[in-house]
Amino acid sequence: MRVLGLESSCDETAASVIDWDAARARARVLSDVVHTQAALHARFGGVVPELASRDHLQRALPVVDEALSSAGVTLAGLDGIAVTRGPGLVGALLVGVQLARGLALGAGKPLVGVNHLEGHLLAALLSENAPQLPFLGLVVSGGHTSLYDVRALGDVRPLGHTLDDAAGEAFDKAAKLLGLPYPGGAHIDRLAKGGDASAHAFPRGLARRARTQLDFSFSGLKTALLVHVQAHGVPEGQALADLCASYQEAICDALTSRAVRAAGQLRASRMVLCGGVAANSRLRALAQERCTRAGLELFLPAPKLCTDNGAMIAVAGAHRLARGVSETHLLADPGWRL
Ligand code: KG4
Ligand code: ZN
Repeated sequence: MRVLGLESSCDETAASVIDWDAARARARVLSDVVHTQAALHARFGGVVPELASRDHLQRALPVVDEALSSAGVTLAGLDGIAVTRGPGLVGALLVGVQLARGLALGAGKPLVGVNHLEGHLLAALLSENAPQLPFLGLVVSGGHTSLYDVRALGDVRPLGHTLDDAAGEAFDKAAKLLGLPYPGGAHIDRLAKGGDASAHAFPRGLARRARTQLDFSFSGLKTALLVHVQAHGVPEGQALADLCASYQEAICDALTSRAVRAAGQLRASRMVLCGGVAANSRLRALAQERCTRAGLELFLPAPKLCTDNGAMIAVAGAHRLARGVSETHLLADPGWRL
């Protein structure tokens, strides 16, 4: 079945048409259009919700048009529409949801609302080397850091969340403090490659909690960096690289140690790493190293599938559309927890 997926929860306006094979739970991406607002928000050092909504409003229709035309389908040729319903910025979500409702009503197509995090988790099914279900999923993005037990399509159970900042936020806030451009994760990644990760001993959040707990915390780490910079100023050259590498190591260590612990508790055999921060080179390497040691098969979707896109929303909606679900009176739900 052909499904149009629409994403507008944060700072990407994205649309994609996929061909979903319900029997195999596999999809082929027919088109994948992403307009990013990164440049729009860069000078503010973070996403400005009002600007995001306005830009979505301007971009949504052209992005959908392009997704349909490059897939070679018309609205009439679709079997359903899936749209991100939450979590996210309310004004941004409203644009996508209202557009999807209009398109579905006008073309007489079924519509389903998708949880953005379920989208990130199921993006892995779009990989050539897609994992079988069940799998343990670690979503690490600018807004979320959560562990899930993905048992089956539509059966996703939360295991742990960040209690404060998301991992991406920890990267972005550190980058801002160090005078690097927004979004800063990729800049810290790049600088850290030439640095010594053991140069500074940064704290691992919740280290003293019970060994069974699966939550995360990055606010102490962020404060430790702030205190360091207040005392010594922003370093340059090798010292900056060392600082970036040590800070990045604290995040990657916390993420991978919790994820491997969760896999042990669940007796999981597969792990999927997804969300924008899954593009981080050290996180990918450390996750691979620790999964191999623990006998876990690790799936690392391509970076394009890790950042916000419409195809992941289409996949997460397709399995419900295939079961005949249709939600005509869909409402945005900015605080929707998975
Ligand atoms: O999933 P995503 O595109 O958007 C959200 O839903 O949040 O994730 C964006 C986040 C940003 O915080 C960005 O700094 C981070 O992903 N990011 C990285 C890297 N590339 C993107 N963080 C660390 N290392 C990277 N290479
Ligand atoms: Zn996202």
